[in-house]
Amino acid sequence: MRVDPWWRSGVIYQIYPRSFLDTSGDGVGDLEGIRRRLDYLAWLGVDALWLSPIFRSPMADFGYDVSDYCDVDPLFGSLDELDRLVAEAHARDLRMVLDWVPNHTSDRHPWFLESRQSRSSAKRGWYVWRDPAPERGPPNNWMAAFPRDTRAWTFDDATGQYYLHCFLPEQPDLDWSNPEVAAAMHEVLRFWLDRGIDGFRVDVVHCLGKDPALPDDPPDLAAIPHSALNDQPATHGVLRDLRRLVDGYPGDRMLVGEVYLLVQPDVTRYYGRGDELHLVFDLPRTLHTPWDAAAWRERTETVQTAYAAAGAWPTLVLSNHDTPRHRTRLGSEARARAAAVLLLTLPGTPFLYAGEELGLEDAVVPPDRRVDPGGRDGCRAPIPWDQSARHGWAGEPWLPWPPRAERCAVSVLRDDPSSILHLYRRLLAARRASPALQVGDWTVREAPAGVLAYERVAGTDRRLVLVNFTSEPVTVPAAGRVAVASDGGSEGAEFRGELVADAAVVLVPGR
Ligand code: NOJ
Repeated sequence: MRVDPWWRSGVIYQIYPRSFLDTSGDGVGDLEGIRRRLDYLAWLGVDALWLSPIFRSPMADFGYDVSDYCDVDPLFGSLDELDRLVAEAHARDLRMVLDWVPNHTSDRHPWFLESRQSRSSAKRGWYVWRDPAPERGPPNNWMAAFPRDTRAWTFDDATGQYYLHCFLPEQPDLDWSNPEVAAAMHEVLRFWLDRGIDGFRVDVVHCLGKDPALPDDPPDLAAIPHSALNDQPATHGVLRDLRRLVDGYPGDRMLVGEVYLLVQPDVTRYYGRGDELHLVFDLPRTLHTPWDAAAWRERTETVQTAYAAAGAWPTLVLSNHDTPRHRTRLGSEARARAAAVLLLTLPGTPFLYAGEELGLEDAVVPPDRRVDPGGRDGCRAPIPWDQSARHGWAGEPWLPWPPRAERCAVSVLRDDPSSILHLYRRLLAARRASPALQVGDWTVREAPAGVLAYERVAGTDRRLVLVNFTSEPVTVPAAGRVAVASDGGSEGAEFRGELVADAAVVLVPGR
């Protein structure tokens, strides 16, 4: 039972294609690897797949530096293979979401190559070029996101100007105030929407509108990368145009935007009045919430109030390709299991990051194997599929295996009904069967210290969720049948009033 639209009630599974499954033997995951695991994903019970960037790229930022928005990088496969993947995913009722990177291109994109040719190039105004400051040096004090402690400007000797890059020098920022840029990017979206893509995850969408005066960031914030501060009214006009374009297609196409702001964390403005993004990641507010019942209660109450006022629908993310996995952050599988209950029962659209259903930890990556200029290799470790020497991969993977790969492999956990993998599957099934868990109202219930208790209600459908954030057993006076228990215990039986350490349960309350 799925309540419409799919992007509100469903669960979206993020695949980092490089790390999912290699079938070609080059050690980098590919589209064919994803296709071969569609049955697994359907068995798991997710509703949509989001693929991190697969477009042509020199891979300075592993695909977040695009050199052709309308082709698949040969490392991953071909357009034909993508079409086949989409068709086979759709046949299993899985939606397909692609990662679209509109703030910057690769420095090898033909647009930028042309732009840097001369000051009078027809594409000069597609990027942000400025003269040096009067006393020489970059035009303002903005910092790049990586490498750490570097400026967001690179000087181009040939034309004597600086260009802006909020990320690597290989990722020059486009100038979205230029209507030609917007028009070219709209064509890109149409290209993919016409091919049947169901939506886009929009990279650093809050960076699209820039203050035309490019003023310095305030001195007290000047050490923070500009990308975590840029929050301009112009972005909202860009988003309204994108929304109109996407909503012009049939079948509930969707835009989920990455908005990562450290000083102005309220992201609800990016939903507009229901005329901007369909969904927005609320990353700092979730990733930085400590493992503490009061903190999660406060976080969720704040989200509920802010989103209700804005008429917006929240999202939930515990792990992704930019952050240490929550299994690593929380330090134990028991807690990671309890966190999975939160993720799949709190209000909002959950995003799972491939491998969290296996309880994967970040890989420990020795210095000579580090490849990411942003230091994020650990959470991008390859997915182990079986117990063979290369865990099902055709070639030796581009990054080291995560710890305990032997024991966390899909084939092993699939054979073990008590595994975290089966917990995710049961939670996903319980969610799919319950409108209350998908879209119901949320009410916090009083509970002993260290326990978060809440109810989800949609019509006559009700669920009560109890999460023990402590590492001690706790007595909780609640009644109902245990639908899912994070430790697998007593499912189907009446709740006995005690939560074991670091555990969570979903109850169907008694009448
Ligand atoms: C956010 C993406 O999630 C990250 O991986 C990337 O490096 C930056 N945007 C730049 O595109």
